[in-house]
Order: sequence, then C-alpha cells, then structure tokens
Amino acid sequence: MNSLLLFYCSCVLFPILISPSIAKTTATSSLPQPKTLILPVTKVPHFPRNQYVTVIKQRTPLVPIKLAVDLGLENSWVLCDHSYVSSTYKPQHCGSPQCSFASQYHTIEDCRDCFGGGTLNTPGCNNNTCIGDVHNFVANIISAGELFRDVASVESADGRAVYMPNLLFGCGDTMMMEGLASGVKGIAALGRTKLALPSQFAAAFGLEKKFTVCLSSSTTSNGVVLLGKTDVSKSLAYTPTLFEPSFGKRNGKYYIDLKSIKINDKVVPFPRKYLSFGYPYEYRGGTTLNTIYPYTVMFELIHSAFVNSFVEAMPKDVPRAADVSPFKACFNSTYIAKTPVGPAVPTVDFVMKNGVVWRMLGANTMVEVDKDVMCLAFVDYGEYSEGSAIVIGGHQLEDNLVQFDIANNRVGFSNSLLSKQTSCSNFAAKYVNA
Ligand SMILES: *[C@@H]1O[C@H](CO)[C@@H](O)[C@H](O)[C@H]1NC(C)=O
Ligand SMILES: *[C@@H]1O[C@H](CO)[C@@H](O)[C@H](O)[C@H]1NC(C)=O
Repeated sequence: MNSLLLFYCSCVLFPILISPSIAKTTATSSLPQPKTLILPVTKVPHFPRNQYVTVIKQRTPLVPIKLAVDLGLENSWVLCDHSYVSSTYKPQHCGSPQCSFASQYHTIEDCRDCFGGGTLNTPGCNNNTCIGDVHNFVANIISAGELFRDVASVESADGRAVYMPNLLFGCGDTMMMEGLASGVKGIAALGRTKLALPSQFAAAFGLEKKFTVCLSSSTTSNGVVLLGKTDVSKSLAYTPTLFEPSFGKRNGKYYIDLKSIKINDKVVPFPRKYLSFGYPYEYRGGTTLNTIYPYTVMFELIHSAFVNSFVEAMPKDVPRAADVSPFKACFNSTYIAKTPVGPAVPTVDFVMKNGVVWRMLGANTMVEVDKDVMCLAFVDYGEYSEGSAIVIGGHQLEDNLVQFDIANNRVGFSNSLLSKQTSCSNFAAKYVNA
C-alpha cells in the first residue's frame, strides 16, 4: 500500500452533513433528551497492536458489536457478511441526499452495484448504492464498501438505553478484518467530521459536540468515552485543534499545535520544521492523538533525537537491555524505582502553543516487556505509517482525561490521574461496570 495515497484517501471520506431529519431519535417517550452517552472501552491485548475496543448495539434485533476505537477516522464501518442480520438495514441508494452530498468528496467511484460475489440484497451487497472509503489503520489497509443506515443503541449517563434509528456506517468485508482482535467486527470512528459518531450522536440527541476519553491501563477494568456534556472541563488544560491545510474539515484527525518536546526540562534537539504540516512532503506532518496506535509513533528523525535525549537523561547506573522490537531504548528495570505514577524515569513534556504542557510520567512513557526489562514506549513511525509527524498513542493516553471539544476546536487534557491518586478505571466505574 502506498502510504501517501493511504493518507490522502483518509482525508476525503464523506463529511456528510447529517441533517436532523436524517438522524432523528425515536422520541416515543416524554423523558428529557440525554445529555451524555456512554461508550465503554476495554483494552484488548493483541500482539503487536493492543486495541481499545468499544461495544455498540446495532441492528434489529439488537446485537452488541465490538468495534476498535479510532479517534481520527471519518466514518465507522462494520463487517457486512452473512453474520449481519437485521430487518432494519437500509443501503443508501444513489441519488439520496447523503450520496449526492458525499459524492463531491469521493476519491474512488461513488455509486455502484453489488460486487465481490455476495448474495444480492443482503447487507453489503445491494445494487445502486453509494459507497464509502473503509479504513483499517491497525493493518494499514483501505477499501470501499456500501454505505448504510441501521438502528443503534447505547447507554446514557442517566442509565437508559437510547436508540438511534438511523446510524450511518460503511460496510467492510472479511479482508478488512486483518489485524483486528478476536471478536472485533469493525472500527468506531470518533473523528472530527460530521459523519463520525460524535457528530452523528450530537445531531441526533442535541448533545454538546464534544467527547471525553479516559482509557484504563488495565485489561481487566473498563475505561470510557463520554459523548456530550461532562463536568470535567474545569480540571483540564486546553490547546487549540488545527486544520490540516490540504484537506481542512474533510480530515477527521485532531491536530494539536505541538511546539517542542522536553525530557527532564531539556528541549529535545531537532529542527522545528519536523513538526509542521507539509513535512517531509505534502499531505504529511502535524501532531495528532489516536487510540488506533498502541504507542506514540514519531517521524524517524524526531524519534531518534527523542530516544537519544531520553537515554542521556536516564541515570547512568541503570543498565541498558537489548532492544525489544519495536522499541529502541530498553533498560534493566530492577535498577529503576517504582512509584505511584509508574517507574521513576525522566519526565517527558509535550509543549504546546502558549506554553501549555502535557507532562508524561513513567506509567505513560515506559512499557514493561519482560519481568526485568522496560522500554521507552514511543516508536519510529516507519513501523506504522499514518502520515502525521507524531501520533500520541493509546499507552500515552491511558489514565489521562482527554476531551475532544469539536464545537470549540480544542483538546483538553488532565495530565496523569495517577498523580491525583485516581485512575481511568475509577473514573469509568461511575458510568460502566468494571
Ligand atoms: C444488480 O446489478 C448486477 C450488476 O450490475 C446486474 O447484473 C443485476 O441484474 C442487478 N440486479 C437487479 C435486481 O437489479
Ligand atoms: C538485570 O539485572 C539483574 C541484577 O544485576 C540481573 O540479574 C538480570 O539478569 C538483569 N537482566 C537483564 C535482562 O539484563
């Protein structure tokens, strides 16, 4: 797969304007509209790519569907094969408002008949339907599939099940399941575009257009995504989100204005231009955040400078251990003290516009790979190319509250909850069962 093409395609998915008439709720009860919806998130170990997996109920009758969470993706997709059974599945036909609006953004064909040998008139195989790009950034693959609407249901924070009769999704085929953890049937898109879940749910229920992520570091207790209103804003530091210049609002990723990286308060030396858009070439660059990467990925020249600075800052009496792929700085952990905020190692600061600092402590910067070996949990993006200079990944987001405020074009973050004697599994326990 040509990664430039892949990145290009990722930016031009259909930002359909979901009008209230398209995404209307079943207002059959007199209960007030929910203010906050809950998506439970489980960390699923899956070598070499852990996944953060949520569950949405979908179809008629409703069945729980496991989806890997992608914070930058524009449209959600699910496996449409013989296992997709629903009496409310609605392919989006050519010429429908969604299709015609979407067609101006298509990179591939925008309308077609069933192909690929499925059974005609079953999910994923209908004639005269519009199609969407389908991305799996776990395996770095892309295809296209039928766009459809179906019933979905999630929990609200006041303990109700809420229904959406028309949640838009794309169809993936079995080839698109590559790399996904067992039982995972697709990808939940939490990107910034109107087609992604936060905007679809916000439009349907009149939610505030934001969501808050708290990922548990444990594989046995849940984390959570809260869609809509939360009361955490006061405890967060905010930094603006930027629009990538080539694709602007058609790109689902949340770009933040990272200015420099410090290790133990010393700036990691690399040219500033490595952090800008369009470097090393068009459509690339910038800093984003995404759970689809288990560890932060960095452009190779940033990564090598970062690793060198970290190794230099590490106390000299901590012996190096052999590299464990994909990590480049591993240490004998018997020489590293343990603290409530993780192993005692140099601090890593991501310094953003106006001096706002995201400080990462040992729990977020190191990963235990063996009983006496610990590695710096940041990897060279050659391993998992996506196009951004830096993508802050799942391990670095764990036990931090991170709010994606779409309406106000900003991202808020708490810094490690562990330093406040709490964690994301504590936070999530208020909303979901452990
Ligand atoms: C569906 O499309 C295929 C391929 O274009 C065509 O052969 C077939 O007749 C169509 N079926 C119906 C029911 O329209
Ligand atoms: C780490 O250090 C301990 C104590 O010196 C030693 O027994 C152990 O073999 C070392 N482990 C590695 C992986 O180097």
